[in-house]
Amino acid sequence: MHIGCPKEIKPQEFRVGMTPNAAHEAVNAGHKVTVETNAGAGAGFTDEDYIAAGAGIVGTASEVFASADMIVKVKEPQAVERKMLREGQILFTYLHLAPDPDQTHDLMASGATCIAYETVTDDRGGLPLLAPMSEVAGRLAPQVGAWTLQKANGGRGVLMGGVPGVGPARVLVIGGGVVGTHAARIAAGMGADVTVLDRSLPRLRYLDDTFGGQFKNGYASAGNTADLAREADMIIGAVLIPGAAAPKLISRAQLSDLKPGAALVDVAIDQGGCFETSKATTHQDPIYDVDGIMHYCVANMPGAVARTSTIALGNATMPFMLALANKGWRQACEDDPHLLDGLNVHAGKLTYYAVGKALGIDVLSPALALKA
Ligand SMILES: NC(=O)c1ccc[n+]([C@@H]2O[C@H](COP(=O)([O-])OP(=O)(O)OC[C@H]3O[C@@H](n4cnc5c(N)ncnc54)[C@H](O)[C@@H]3O)[C@@H](O)[C@H]2O)c1
Repeated sequence: MHIGCPKEIKPQEFRVGMTPNAAHEAVNAGHKVTVETNAGAGAGFTDEDYIAAGAGIVGTASEVFASADMIVKVKEPQAVERKMLREGQILFTYLHLAPDPDQTHDLMASGATCIAYETVTDDRGGLPLLAPMSEVAGRLAPQVGAWTLQKANGGRGVLMGGVPGVGPARVLVIGGGVVGTHAARIAAGMGADVTVLDRSLPRLRYLDDTFGGQFKNGYASAGNTADLAREADMIIGAVLIPGAAAPKLISRAQLSDLKPGAALVDVAIDQGGCFETSKATTHQDPIYDVDGIMHYCVANMPGAVARTSTIALGNATMPFMLALANKGWRQACEDDPHLLDGLNVHAGKLTYYAVGKALGIDVLSPALALKA
């Protein structure tokens, strides 16, 4: 198969869909890989790295789209990219179609077969192509929160680990899933006094069994959350209710109960945020002040560490990318129902029920799409 990897064009996106290692694996499996010049520059990969991996370099995205059987990307295709997709071509990338009718209609009109990273599943009910980005955002949260806590940034002026004779920062993590667990581990590793709250008792049991010695856990009742928030120097919002907007767990009125200069890091901002006063910010201007409480609400946190994020995403996507290349999308999806869960659009039809429901579009069942 001829696999193409264009440079990402969404503003502030520095990741790339294929690492040189992924290109190397594809070439070794007998495939041809074409990469747009400078596609990996933002993640620290040069054209020479791709050439050494056996890939070819071309000057423009249109050459990549025109020649490749499968396009591998990171972000949803932008309008100009969607125009370059064609019937029978495979698109493998994040799509997030439910809130995006324009993209959905364009992808249907293209006739391409579009497989979305975010809806590929695994046999434990997880989302294996979303998890690496949650791991990155979770591990980054205490790092950016620690910076936010510094006095020059408007914070409380508290050091995460304290020093001998001075106690550590108190960190409250609300939501103990992938983001929350990784955030808690790093915050505890920095020496902070960490508590994770969740509403799932099985999850709390897991956290207690696995990390009981490293951080505390508690049930996320409103009362418990409010009590611990009052004591916290940093609060990390990491909740998710799949398919729904994030619940608001700290109200504006509660800000006056918090410690002055406390840092609120709302990782759940991409689902609307779990603090009432959260609004999405960018890496250029990441923090703002509401009533003396510093908020960090960057919606694409993994972009700050594009190299780590690219490699982490590449490790997760590589087996699926290789299966699609080795077998073709139809056989690969027939053999792996978890990959079939990623099928969102095929030959002009929407094939993902939740998107159909959100946008009021008729859906062709993925099983029928395999036969179409
Ligand atoms: N800002 C970014 O760059 C970025 C990057 C990656 C992920 N995210 C977001 O981070 C959020 C968390 O993602 P995740 O992968 O950890 O999800 P997850 O499903 O692994 O974990 C979510 C946890 O929240 C818990 N929860 C749900 N409602 C709760 C409540 N009211 N109180 C306490 N806990 C509650 C669930 O039980 C679950 O354990 C999502 O909104 C995700 O989109 C943001």
